[in-house]
Amino acid sequence: MMPVSMVGRAGELAEFAAAWAMVTGGRPRAGGVVVTGAAGVGKSLLIAAALDGLTPRPAMILTGTARVHSPAPYDWLAAALSGRDTRDLPLPPDALAWLAQHPNAPRERYAPDALLRLAVRTVRALVGAGPAVLVVEDLHALDPASLNLVGELAGAPGLPALLLVASRPPDTAVSPQLVAATLARLSGAPGAIRQHLGPLPRTDVAAVLAQVYPERPVSPGVVEAVWRRTGGNPYRLVELLAVEGGGGPDGLTRKPPPEPLRLPVPAQPSAAPTAELTGREIEVLSCLAAGMSNKQVARSLGISVRTVTVHVSNLLRKTGSASRTEAALWAVRQQLTGPARHG
Ligand SMILES: Nc1ncnc2c1ncn2[C@@H]1O[C@H](COP(=O)(O)OP(=O)(O)OP(=O)(O)O)[C@@H](O)[C@H]1O
Ligand SMILES: [Mg+2]
Repeated sequence: MMPVSMVGRAGELAEFAAAWAMVTGGRPRAGGVVVTGAAGVGKSLLIAAALDGLTPRPAMILTGTARVHSPAPYDWLAAALSGRDTRDLPLPPDALAWLAQHPNAPRERYAPDALLRLAVRTVRALVGAGPAVLVVEDLHALDPASLNLVGELAGAPGLPALLLVASRPPDTAVSPQLVAATLARLSGAPGAIRQHLGPLPRTDVAAVLAQVYPERPVSPGVVEAVWRRTGGNPYRLVELLAVEGGGGPDGLTRKPPPEPLRLPVPAQPSAAPTAELTGREIEVLSCLAAGMSNKQVARSLGISVRTVTVHVSNLLRKTGSASRTEAALWAVRQQLTGPARHG
């Protein structure tokens, strides 16, 4: 299937452009844009589309994602620093090594307050004269130190940067209260914009189907069936199209879906009502529940580590888990930890 380009979200895109105009216009801090919404609703795609559309182009974009496989303090900053040349930054090299999580960095030489100040200084040094964009992906899965840092950055006086944050709702996070408090702090910053993404309406689902099947009109009945089957969730829509869309739009109305497996999800108000796991994902999940590292999973299933990480992130999304430990617990609760099944 061809990649689907973004539909809808025009109002949200316009807000990003307005916030960027404030920052590039040299006016006092414009606050950030905080995008919340359920798993797979399109937060990351929206931020990527907004970044693509920014004019003038940002002088620098600093992006960090919660790396759920190796949570550590200031993980957002470490992720943002990874692969960057930091030798010329005006900061103590051992502090930078610590913040970037270099394997042989000295342990615990700085007090927590000092580290927070150093982390803010590091970001300031990287942003320089700007205008810059700071992207915080998956805030709900960040460690407490990173949450604190993001809160500081949102209020940092005179920082010529636009902060863009994506988060699932706090009640799906590992530390719901910390995440809720951080989201409240970000939204309270002067000029902050808060966006909560809901599922796509029928018209947007129809627009996606029109992209996928350009040569034949898709009937309103098919649009309705697809909208109902996916709840308008773009991730589920893209998956449905990939799994069942090959034979044309009429194949999408079939019920119930022959594959993938449908499994109940534990009580989590904003997680999807069902998790659809493929056979391979169930195998990977069983390995996680057995406490294996990605490398061990790769070896035992005869696949690459890269493929394992893709399966793990899909698993986290589908089970509504914020970490691999949580996914493993989910598996135990679902009694999925027996011999792996093939699909
Ligand atoms: N508005 C949209 N139009 C078309 N496709 C979309 C739209 N929004 C999201 N998608 C597609 O749905 C899938 C999930 O989107 P995305 O990864 O942005 O979700 P998310 O909210 O960031 O999820 P998560 O909470 O897991 O990070 C992607 O394949 C994306 O391309
Ligand atoms: Mg995302």
